[in-house]
Amino acid sequence: MTSETFSPGLDGVIATDTKISLLDTDVEMIIVRGYDLIELAQNLNYTDVAYLVIYGRLPTEAQGREFCETLAEQAEIPDELYRLFELMPKSTVAMDALRTGISFLAGFEDPDLLNDNSHEANLKKGLKLLAQVPALAVNSYRALNDMPFVRPDQSLGYMENFMYMLRGEKPDAVSLDAFDRIHMCYIEHEMPNSTFAARVIASTLADMYGAMVGAVASLKGRLHGGANEAAIEFLLDILKEGGPPRAEAYVMEKLEARARIMGFGHRVYMKKYDPRAKFLMEYIPRLADRVPDGEELASIYNTVEQVMFREKALYPNTDFPIGLLYYELGIPIPLYTPIFLASRTAGNVAHVLEQHDDNRLFRPRVIYSGARDLHPPDKAISPG
Ligand SMILES: CC(C)(COP(=O)(O)OP(=O)(O)OC[C@H]1O[C@@H](n2cnc3c(N)ncnc32)[C@H](O)[C@@H]1OP(=O)(O)O)[C@@H](O)C(=O)NCCC(=O)NCCS
Repeated sequence: MTSETFSPGLDGVIATDTKISLLDTDVEMIIVRGYDLIELAQNLNYTDVAYLVIYGRLPTEAQGREFCETLAEQAEIPDELYRLFELMPKSTVAMDALRTGISFLAGFEDPDLLNDNSHEANLKKGLKLLAQVPALAVNSYRALNDMPFVRPDQSLGYMENFMYMLRGEKPDAVSLDAFDRIHMCYIEHEMPNSTFAARVIASTLADMYGAMVGAVASLKGRLHGGANEAAIEFLLDILKEGGPPRAEAYVMEKLEARARIMGFGHRVYMKKYDPRAKFLMEYIPRLADRVPDGEELASIYNTVEQVMFREKALYPNTDFPIGLLYYELGIPIPLYTPIFLASRTAGNVAHVLEQHDDNRLFRPRVIYSGARDLHPPDKAISPG
C-alpha cells in the first residue's frame, strides 16, 4: 500500500455501494431512495419518510397506517429501563444514557432474533428500536433531571407522542409541524461518521443493537451530531456577552483564536450550502416569538452566518439552524443530540439491513510510521 491511497479522515474515499442516499453536491441535493430529501420534508411526514428509507419505497395509505400502528404498539420500553435510568448517576450525559438504554434493550431481545442477521429479523429489531428510541431518549433525560416519567401514549401518532413525552402535554399544531420537518431533515445523510460506524460494526456480523450503540457513541461527538448543542450554546454565549451588537466582534475574536464555530463547515459540502439548513432557516423567524429572546437570537444567527461566510467562506450546516429551532421549541439542550439520533435511527436501520444483506468485512490498512527492528531484552523487566 502506498501513500497515494492514503486519505486522512478517509476524505473522498468510497466506503460502500448503497441504494439508500447520496449527497449530490453538484446539484446541492440530498437524494434519498431516489427522492429529493427537501421535497420529502416539504410534503410528507416523518413516518412516511422513515418507511421510505427502511423499505426503499413510499408506503401506500394502508402500509403507512400499519407502519404507524406497529411503531405505536412497540413504543413502550420495559419497566427495567425506567429503573435503570433512576440508578444512573445524575451527572450522566443524556446521550450516554440513551447509548446505555439501547445497549440494555438488547438483553430483552429474543436470543434467536438477536443473533439472526437475516433481512426479516433485522427489520423486526430495527422497527422496535425506531419505536422505542423516543421513550428511551426522553425518559432517561427525565430521570437524570428528577422529572416524572412520561410513558408513551400509544393513541398518539409517532411524532406527536415524542413531543408529548418531551413536554408532558400534547403539542400545538405549529410546534408539531416544525418538529416533524426537522426530524425528516435529520433522517438520513449518506455516510456520516455514525452511519459508517454502524456499518463497520455490522460488517463483523455483530447485531443491530451493537451497531446502533456504536452509532450513538459516534453521533455524540461535537464534530458530528453534538454540533447542534454546541451551536445553540454559542448563540446563547453571544446573547449573554452583549447580544446582537456584540455578535460580529465575538465571532471575529473566536476566529482570531482559531476556534471552530460549531454548526459551520462540512466534510462533503464544505464550500456549499447544506440544503437542509437552507430549508430549515425559514422556520427560525416563524418560531421566534415562542421564547423571550427569540428575536435577538435570530439576529445573532444572521450575523454569525454573514461573518462566517465573509471571513471563512463557510456556510452553516443543518445543526446551526436546528440548534436554534429546538431552542425555540422549548426543548432542553442536552436532548438535542439524542433527538437527532432518534431521527437518524431510521437511516441507520436501513444501512445495517443493507450491510447484512450483502456483507463484506470492513478492514482497512495503515501507513506505519512507528519504529521497527527493536528487540526485547532477554529477561523480564517487571516482577510480573
Ligand atoms: C464538519 C467538520 C468536522 C469537517 O471537517 P473536515 O472535513 O475534516 O475539514 P477540516 O477540519 O480539515 O477543515 C478545513 C478548513 O476549514 C476550516 N473550518 C472547517 N470548519 C470550520 C468551522 N466550523 N469553524 C472554523 N473553521 C472551520 C478549518 O479550520 C480548516 O481551515 P485550514 O485549512 O485553514 O486549517 C468541520 O467543518 C467542523 O469542525 N465543523 C464544526 C462542527 C460541526 O458543525 N459539525 C457538524 C457537521 S454536520
